[in-house]
Amino acid sequence: MTVSHVRTDRLVLRPLDLADAPRIARFAADPGVARMTSSFPLQQTVVGAEGWVLIRQALEPHRVGGEFAIDLPGEGLIGTIGAHASIGAVEIGYWIGRPWWGHGFATEALRAVTDVAKGLRHGPVVADHFADNPASGRALEKAGFVYTGEVAPRFSLARGESAPSRLMRLAA
Ligand SMILES: CC(C)(COP(=O)(O)OP(=O)(O)OC[C@H]1O[C@@H](n2cnc3c(N)ncnc32)[C@H](O)[C@@H]1OP(=O)(O)O)[C@@H](O)C(=O)NCCC(=O)NCCS
Repeated sequence: MTVSHVRTDRLVLRPLDLADAPRIARFAADPGVARMTSSFPLQQTVVGAEGWVLIRQALEPHRVGGEFAIDLPGEGLIGTIGAHASIGAVEIGYWIGRPWWGHGFATEALRAVTDVAKGLRHGPVVADHFADNPASGRALEKAGFVYTGEVAPRFSLARGESAPSRLMRLAA
């Protein structure tokens, strides 16, 4: 199943474009964003962000699910979100640029992508967030996820090490 565009009340979720790299680099250069993700380095550059986009574009045809730019019409990319089948589950990952925190955008994008993820019929819909990132846990809760009680180490490129991550699961 391939979903390329999803509209919400305020957002358009659309495929990533190489032209998004400068905005991704600007937001991801913020350690407060990079350290809360697994795949951003600590000092993101435009070239690095281009590579990040190109890898995702190359992988996309071989994965079940979708990777989206979170686009605020009139502004452009404000974050990204993906939902992909992994072993026995569908895993969701996301980030929002700091200027756009606190407006409910993560929750809005999560709710939309959760619908996509459920449609994949590939098992439970899961996400995890670093234990030192309670805002992400709160956004997941608002989108219908519950804490499973499990904490597992997840590697963060920006931290250069693993950190405890709380596993969340979409409530039935
Ligand atoms: C976590 C993140 C996605 C939240 O994005 P957002 O658009 O600001 O989220 P929302 O506005 O939808 O919801 C955030 C909620 O967290 C709450 N929150 C913010 N800071 C918090 C904190 N320190 N502790 C607890 N809750 C907090 C907000 O008040 C809000 O809840 P409320 O609506 O009940 O008041 C964003 O900060 C981000 O991208 N951070 C860096 C990267 C990242 O964390 N990615 C997720 C990896 S799992």
